[in-house]
Amino acid sequence: MHTERTTSKLGVIERYRDYLPVTESTPIVSLGEGTTPLVFCPRLSERVGRAVFVKNEGVNPTGSFKDRGMTVAVSKSVERGGKALICASTGNTSASAAAYAARAGISCAVILPAGKIATGKLLQAFAYGAKIVAIDGNFDDALRLVRELGQSGDFAIVNSINPDRITGQKTAAFEIVDDLSDAPDFHLLPVGNAGNITAYWAGYREYHARGCSTKLPVMLGFQAAGAAPIFYNRIVEKPETVASAIRIGNPASWKQARAAITESNGAIDVVSDEEILSAQAWLARHEGIFVEPASAASIAGLFKCCDSKEAAYSKIPAQSRIVCTVTGHGLKDPDVITAQLKELGSVPANVNDVRRAVGH
Ligand code: F0G
Repeated sequence: MHTERTTSKLGVIERYRDYLPVTESTPIVSLGEGTTPLVFCPRLSERVGRAVFVKNEGVNPTGSFKDRGMTVAVSKSVERGGKALICASTGNTSASAAAYAARAGISCAVILPAGKIATGKLLQAFAYGAKIVAIDGNFDDALRLVRELGQSGDFAIVNSINPDRITGQKTAAFEIVDDLSDAPDFHLLPVGNAGNITAYWAGYREYHARGCSTKLPVMLGFQAAGAAPIFYNRIVEKPETVASAIRIGNPASWKQARAAITESNGAIDVVSDEEILSAQAWLARHEGIFVEPASAASIAGLFKCCDSKEAAYSKIPAQSRIVCTVTGHGLKDPDVITAQLKELGSVPANVNDVRRAVGH
């Protein structure tokens, strides 16, 4: 095998090596993840009357934030001699695990709720060569099975119950602080299995403890109204939402998410499917950032906080700097938008007809 540097862009392990559990002898399995754009959004800022930046995690190698954790989890697994990965997933974790397994030359099994995975994500897992198993059950059932299967020692579990995943994902917080030269005042993000809010909070605290920022952000997490166990403080047996990525009724990192919210003086709130889809469309049309429905929960949450008196955290001061993480690319989960797209009739190939069709 040739041993050139893996990509022209540093992956998160190379960029933040000192903060991650790797040594010289850890084989680095990377696809050049991380270093995603922190995009200042002028129209969004105007709409809510505060400075808003979007951390666009949809531009990671497999189109979601999962790649940050997966590079660390898969590298560590290979270092320990692991030859097979397994995960439960609502879609993105499976796409990412499958890609990094392919990159490492090991096998990957993904356990998914049948009929509930967005088209793009299922295609990814298939294309990367994962063994796909659909179960008659939801994500929470799939994760329970994966925990049991993992006990045999035959597989490395690469869900966020694997601490290497959380450790990798905390690098997103480092990048934000590096880009802004300090932590933001508020950080908003979608919450499903609650690994990401746990990871961001760990990252912000660690950077602060090392003197890289002067403050810590208030963490605001948003669940879909039909899948909001943390908000309602009870397990949801049959979670339902159009945002299939966060269709989770019993999050693995529930306690850690609670701690992040309490310690940061933050809050957890809910957004409806309607609010999610309308925020998704708004962000695409006004800022040119196309995200999947689950990702738009952070934008829907921002609108709710800034517009309504009822939101769990409605007092974001006007001079605040806000970061919203959008977690996955819009092309992964195209079904709702596809249904809105009318069939395109064609026009004759001449300037007059085309001009008329354009409407100018
Ligand atoms: N946004 C997207 C696009 C996701 O795929 C997920 C989780 C989340 C937000 C929530 O993150 O679970 O750390 O709170 N997706 C997992 C999966 C569950 O299997 O892909 P979380």
